[in-house]
Amino acid sequence: MDIPFSRWHPAIEKRRSRRYFDPNLPIAPDVLAALDNVCNQFVPFPHAWSRLVTKSADSVFKGIIGSYGRIKNASAFIAFIGNMSDPFAQEEVGYTGEGIILEATALGSGTCWVGGFFRAEIATALAEVGENERVLAITPVGYTQESESWEERLMTGFARSHNRVALSKLARGLPREKWPNWVGVSLEAARLAPSAANRQPWGFDVQDDGIAVFVRTRGPQFNVSKRLDCGIAMLHLEVAALDSGCKGEWDFLPSPQVAKFKTRS
Ligand SMILES: Cc1cc2nc3c(=O)[nH]c(=O)nc-3n(C[C@H](O)[C@H](O)[C@H](O)COP(=O)(O)O)c2cc1C
Repeated sequence: MDIPFSRWHPAIEKRRSRRYFDPNLPIAPDVLAALDNVCNQFVPFPHAWSRLVTKSADSVFKGIIGSYGRIKNASAFIAFIGNMSDPFAQEEVGYTGEGIILEATALGSGTCWVGGFFRAEIATALAEVGENERVLAITPVGYTQESESWEERLMTGFARSHNRVALSKLARGLPREKWPNWVGVSLEAARLAPSAANRQPWGFDVQDDGIAVFVRTRGPQFNVSKRLDCGIAMLHLEVAALDSGCKGEWDFLPSPQVAKFKTRS
């Protein structure tokens, strides 16, 4: 499936993590079918995939202690799965999963990446994953109230969710006045990507023939790979690049580099 960039680009601005779902409003069957379809169709890498699960969704979020990660009233979730024999499974799952999240956003569903605080053994059984495969993260899907509940606002404040690091701190390489138009637009989209505890671990090296993504920050992983966060930012970067008329390919790179988006000349 090609990236539907003109549909997903506006969803980047619209998306916000939502954790409290409306128990009285089940997801419309056509929306569920569309979510299932995008999970099956958007598989840009052979070792990363997504599965919609519509039964027992609340059980994967239940019993979690503390407010971070508490998801309420989810009737369905999507599991993001990677084959751990692939050295780039983390970034591939981030990239693939964010495509699904942006499509869910465009369909009117609330979402929230949940990387650490879910019951992995239940999610693994429900998603029916294969050998060497792991559910690296999940998202609830469903309808939320238009505005955030007080509990959600508390949660958002905890993760200082809407703050983002300035682009000047994230980008290096070619000076800004030499950036072609697509570079600024794409880095702005990448900057808005969600990350675990909003840690924004990415950096961007602007080069003559593309942009390299690298892990910029040190510090603990909190059980979620920073390379997964970087995969999410890669998807945002490419969606905006495509919407600006720039096509390219990703080359994965060894740590602390992540991948380079090489423009097609
Ligand atoms: C890989 C990943 C894992 C996350 N894990 C959790 C989690 O376990 N619990 C939770 O409540 N939020 C989780 N989040 C959501 C982040 O806290 C949120 O994306 C970030 O604070 C930015 O806020 P925004 O998504 O509203 O822009 C996760 C996000 C990502 C990308």
